[in-house]
Amino acid sequence: MSSGSDAFRAPKGTNDLLPPESWRWQGAVRLAMDLFARAGYEPVETPIFEHTEVFERGVGAATEVVGKQMYTFKDKGERSYTLRPEGTAPVVRAVLEHGLASGALPVKLAYAGPMFRQERPQKGRHRQFFQLGIEALGSDEPTIDAEVIEVGNRFLKTVGVEPQLKLNSIGHPDPSCRGAYMETLVTFLRDQEADLAEADRSRVDTNPLRTFDSKEEDTIKVMEDAPKITEHLCDPCREHFAAVSGNLDALGLKYEMAPSLVRGLDYYTRTAFEFTSAGLGSQDAVGGGGRYDGLSEALGGPPLPSIGFALGLDRILLASQADLPRPGIDVYVVALGDRARAEALVQATTLRAQGFGAELDHAGRSMKGQMKDADRSGARFAAIFGDREIEMGEVTLKDLQSGEQATIRSTDLAQALEKP
Ligand code: HAM
Repeated sequence: MSSGSDAFRAPKGTNDLLPPESWRWQGAVRLAMDLFARAGYEPVETPIFEHTEVFERGVGAATEVVGKQMYTFKDKGERSYTLRPEGTAPVVRAVLEHGLASGALPVKLAYAGPMFRQERPQKGRHRQFFQLGIEALGSDEPTIDAEVIEVGNRFLKTVGVEPQLKLNSIGHPDPSCRGAYMETLVTFLRDQEADLAEADRSRVDTNPLRTFDSKEEDTIKVMEDAPKITEHLCDPCREHFAAVSGNLDALGLKYEMAPSLVRGLDYYTRTAFEFTSAGLGSQDAVGGGGRYDGLSEALGGPPLPSIGFALGLDRILLASQADLPRPGIDVYVVALGDRARAEALVQATTLRAQGFGAELDHAGRSMKGQMKDADRSGARFAAIFGDREIEMGEVTLKDLQSGEQATIRSTDLAQALEKP
């Protein structure tokens, strides 16, 4: 915190999450983890920081994420750590470390958590952002590709985003497949180098595939005529891709073939996909994923063909206006008089223990003030206790929607709330 005006503000590119938005956030996370679990994806949590090499070797040193965007620091023991910029490499690291892949395959895992990239902040692009992801490790069956894509698509629809699905295959890195294609692409790019945008020329040597992702007008124009990976896939990769798209057709899932879709992380092989949402402006990718058949080996493990996705929750909630489930307050316990205040606390606590959402006044409000606060709380009912009611073992239950009220035995309160 350097100057007065910066004092006590959240760091640039980060956000505080406050009610009511925090409710939508939590609702979406709960919905996602439930939906993922129903397809067999079990929750996993990995540390927020990892040894830097996990990302250097996993995601690739030539990527923008590793080269420019990582929050890397040395601890007091001079070890280099990095705040995770993504969740896939850490999940693979954890699966290898704990031998999860020595049992039944595929290992199917789901996660939800913050990721960190030092990017230029703008709408939908933050330095701390939140991903929901699934990873299926240890299967190259084209059915799992379709399963993963369908689960992502369905979640997005469930939370009110109408995603467009872009699909591609980027083959595998051997000379028989993407290796040969890369030579063709580099030759093409060298021939066209003068027409490429200045900012993209260095990519020809460092990461030629990424020229497809350029936002520069000149480069976009050149890339329209560039050779596409899909025309250069080896037979097994082409057949795999045909099977994946066939499976998606069988599920009735609409997708657009996107031969220029290359993704920003180096571990991808074969299937690559992205979900976009109209109306988000330039940061319109609400999620993306693909196969990473070589990542396990890059991290020192055995061959483990795998696929997954991550969805960006910040962008999803920008794109969606849908109401998301949130636990509500069922009843507001109103107290009339000092004795009733103590009783209201006991009653609200008992109701909570019985599974109801219950609130009460802690600000010494009048009856009128408490009824107003009951409306604010969203409670359907007010349970009103006065000294007389307590004496008689009764409570007045008011339906705040219809305005009807009735006096009942206080021992019947839970039952009355159950069956309004
Ligand atoms: P990614 O495409 O880098 O893939 O990120 C996935 C999603 O995270 C993006 O589509 C976007 O919605 C969100 N996202 C990324 N960066 C930001 C940011 N700075 N601010 C807000 N949202 C952002 C991955 O991270 C891979 N690990 C996905 C994956 C899983 N592939 C296989 N398994």
